[in-house]
Amino acid sequence: MEPIKVGLLGLGTVGTGVVRIVEGHQEDLSNQVGCPITIAQILVKDRAKARSISVDASKLTEDPWEIVRNPDIDVIVEVMGGIAQSKEYILEALERGKHVVTANKDLMALHGQEILQKARDKGCDVLYEASVAGGIPIIRTLIEGFSSDRITKIMGIVNGTTNYILTKMSQEGAAYADVLKEAQELGYAESDPTSDVEGLDAARKMTILSSLGFRANVSLDDVSAKGISQVSQEDIQYAKRLGYVLKLLGIAERQDDTISVSVQPTMIKQSHPIASVNGVFNAVYVLGEAVGETMFYGAGAGELPTATSVVADLVAVVKNMKLGVNGRQAQLSYNVMKLKTDEQIASKFFLLLHVEDRAGVLAQIAQVFSDCDVSIESVMQPSAPNKSSTEIIIITHEASKASMNHVLKAFGSLAAVREIKSVYRVEG
Ligand code: NAP
Ligand code: HSE
Repeated sequence: MEPIKVGLLGLGTVGTGVVRIVEGHQEDLSNQVGCPITIAQILVKDRAKARSISVDASKLTEDPWEIVRNPDIDVIVEVMGGIAQSKEYILEALERGKHVVTANKDLMALHGQEILQKARDKGCDVLYEASVAGGIPIIRTLIEGFSSDRITKIMGIVNGTTNYILTKMSQEGAAYADVLKEAQELGYAESDPTSDVEGLDAARKMTILSSLGFRANVSLDDVSAKGISQVSQEDIQYAKRLGYVLKLLGIAERQDDTISVSVQPTMIKQSHPIASVNGVFNAVYVLGEAVGETMFYGAGAGELPTATSVVADLVAVVKNMKLGVNGRQAQLSYNVMKLKTDEQIASKFFLLLHVEDRAGVLAQIAQVFSDCDVSIESVMQPSAPNKSSTEIIIITHEASKASMNHVLKAFGSLAAVREIKSVYRVEG
């Protein structure tokens, strides 16, 4: 049987895992697809670089066009990252009738619609399972497993770096800056960790998940994102005292034809299944009208977990080739949805205030909530002996962000409120 020839763009963490799995599981893979799968050429930036895997040096090239324009290559596997160049190579490959597998969430969140349209036009497959939650097969699950249901909520811990940081802060009482440094030394966080810690990486992944889950065209601009760089040890300890855990959650919700998608540090009830997802692990909780609650858990990154998803996509492409059905994916963004603005999104809120400790202050604070039509669920004032100021922790009932912003603005002109220390969304 003629082998299927793969052009691999990138031989870093994920590319190395792809080579290991394709070579190590060759017999099993060819039994599934009915022919061998061969990695014929590999694009790298530097051919002379030392590698953790031994590959035939004649397969390595620094010229992308040698692979993308090679008529013998059937499938391009893009695991080099970046946006502009990888997009150019993928579009050129599709133009030439090659199928594409990619792990690139940055690219798919920004240009996914254009790439998928091009694939449809050319009768090609573009699969991107590894782009969200590395080793968890969540994309196939949303497309196929939930095709019969209407999804109303997706909540994800989709960034391992920030989950690692928050877990260490919570379990070991460590400071944010110290754990971030440790995560960088361990190779979890990038040397520039901005897109992880400021929530952009999670926002890109939620763009992909919400588009698929709601079968709508959600763009990155539709997703409001806030990261964890302002989270303090004090916030985490208060969350614990109140029975919550602080997690960076992507939350996508649907009510009829209106959706909202956001990423923010969120206090989630300790009893919620997603609250116990710790360390670098990822999880995606999906609520369907018919199925109810489900949750998918596993490694969100790393060489072999991510490569597992990439190679599973490769197997799917080759099976489609054998059946002659490439490029016949169902239309996945047919719902026209209204998007809630950030201000319209409603949730419960946690507030930590530093206030003057004297008679009448609590009454003034309660008056502000009443004036802004925000109902209070609970109030806690830890004892603070011998101080002129104290802390007040308030959890509200569900309120829109617009109403909460009115509350915060009013506190800004209330002399008794010395500092609005923290505000978090509360779930569960
Ligand atoms: P990586 O370790 O940095 O590897 C990138 C590879 O691509 C390297 O082999 C590099 O060549 C090559 N490369 C990069 N830019 C190139 C260019 N302009 N021309 C030629 N070759 C180029 O990256 P990675 O961690 O494997 O990630 C790859 C993709 O998978 C990214 O889109 C990432 O977001 C996604 N992803 C990664 C993970 C993970 O766990 N790492 C998980 C999920 C998704 P050299 O080796 O010569 O430098
Ligand atoms: N930086 C990402 C994370 C890698 O921490 O989850 C996987 O996309």
